Amino acid sequence: EVVIEENTSGFCGVDGTVDSDHSDYNGSGFANTDNTEGNGVDWQIEVSQAGSYTLQWRYANGGESDRPGDVYIDGQVEYQGASFPVTGSWSSWADSQTVELWLDQGTHTVRLEAVSSAGLGNVDSVTI
Ligand code: GCU
Ligand code: CA
Repeated sequence: EVVIEENTSGFCGVDGTVDSDHSDYNGSGFANTDNTEGNGVDWQIEVSQAGSYTLQWRYANGGESDRPGDVYIDGQVEYQGASFPVTGSWSSWADSQTVELWLDQGTHTVRLEAVSSAGLGNVDSVTI
């Protein structure tokens, strides 16, 4: 299991900013997508053994409704509409639902992409 923070290798970028203006994040901050459909966060992972892997995100959603995301592996959508329900405030972090995906051995890109006009919740890390 690896935990990828915005300041560890494997974090590739966000369609937005890395911020630190809400407390209780891990690492040096969190990924804040600009609030538009199609914006996302990208990571890269090395898989030493092919298999079924569990993905989960630590996130905060201080908005008023779910901010679902599609999960892309190597540019292909592999899971649609992962749920990121409201957490009550931007400094209240929660673990998302889990997403199970098959990953072949090798290096892969993982992208979580907003499917609503609100963008994603703030994303602190992904655990794979
Ligand atoms: C607020 C909050 C941001 C968040 C944004 C949003 O501006 O400070 O951290 O990303 O709302 O609605 O996405
Ligand atoms: Ca945002």
